[in-house]
Amino acid sequence: MIYTADKDRYNNMLYNRCGASGIRLPAVSLGLWHNFGHVDAFENSRAMLRWAFDHGITHFDLANNYGPPPGSAEENFGRMLKTDFAPYRDEMIISTKAGYYMWPGPYGEWGSKKYLIASLEASLKRMGLDYVDIFYSHRPDPDTPLQETMGALHQAVHQGKALYAGISNYTVEQTKEAIRLLTDLGTPLLIHQPRYSMFVRWVEDGLLDLLEDNGVGCIPFSPLAQGLLTDRYLNGIPDDSRIAKSWGFLRKDELTESVLEKIRALNQVAQGRGQKLAQMALAWLMRKKQVTSVLIGASTVGQLQDNLETLKNLSFSPAELTQIENILRS
Ligand SMILES: NC(=O)c1ccc[n+]([C@@H]2O[C@H](COP(=O)([O-])OP(=O)(O)OC[C@H]3O[C@@H](n4cnc5c(N)ncnc54)[C@H](OP(=O)(O)O)[C@@H]3O)[C@@H](O)[C@H]2O)c1
Repeated sequence: MIYTADKDRYNNMLYNRCGASGIRLPAVSLGLWHNFGHVDAFENSRAMLRWAFDHGITHFDLANNYGPPPGSAEENFGRMLKTDFAPYRDEMIISTKAGYYMWPGPYGEWGSKKYLIASLEASLKRMGLDYVDIFYSHRPDPDTPLQETMGALHQAVHQGKALYAGISNYTVEQTKEAIRLLTDLGTPLLIHQPRYSMFVRWVEDGLLDLLEDNGVGCIPFSPLAQGLLTDRYLNGIPDDSRIAKSWGFLRKDELTESVLEKIRALNQVAQGRGQKLAQMALAWLMRKKQVTSVLIGASTVGQLQDNLETLKNLSFSPAELTQIENILRS
């Protein structure tokens, strides 16, 4: 069926300014790390993408290696762009990244200019795009001068193959240096993409403040801890869950009894707020003024639906926050 976007798609989404830039991102963005590869059902991926765009999600996050197999999420996304979203390209913020292993030999991963520029070119081909909106260095490279990696991001922007530069998984110190280098080059850092959730909070130790002070946006990835911060595992491990899939990145040994206890206790707090746990976990991140958007994943349209419902209750009482803090620290 030919797709036409819902005319009411901008009615209910919140859009937050990304740092001090001209861009606003939806409060919820969709990542294509899982559930969009060739191993997944294409029609389900397509239904999720359509539903997301119909409900105001304008930002879609990819990387060269998303799949499996690596590259297949970009290929599938490219196919959907062509058939469904071509008329809407200017309404979308599409990001991709390079940093993790993509091809053999010394130029197939990390942070050299050689790798980043070649990888971006390949990503554009897979997606059938002339440019991406954000190009990320996916991870810092301990052996390549940061000047070279940031120089590659700058070059991509300078050549019009990306509109903005981003970094992911960089520490506070590395981020400080990246901001300085990119500012000097005239391509200010748009955004940082760190892992951040109720269960992983390193960014609260200086990164959020640094980003705010420098007008850089923040888009936490795995805000639901890959599904742990939902009701998914309350009653065992479902066959269709990320843990159960051989290619899923969530390992069974991460679901320990002590983690389960926390999930159960957090679920109670969420119920007290009239929310699902996933919704409370997302709202808890969104309450931080430095968080531009939360970068979720989903395996069904129903999950997307649940997650957008979050926007209906974003406030926390001091008592709820203390309760949550006590559970997380227990
Ligand atoms: N920069 C990086 O290094 C990096 C690393 C990781 C991720 N990312 C980005 O962040 C995006 C999101 O990561 P993520 O997929 O780990 O995010 P996440 O939102 O923490 O986890 C998504 C998973 O949680 C479950 N879920 C989501 N909503 C649910 C709901 N309402 N109820 C029950 N379960 C629900 C689903 O698991 P099931 O599949 O089991 O249903 C879904 O696949 C990625 O797609 C990628 O774009 C970036």
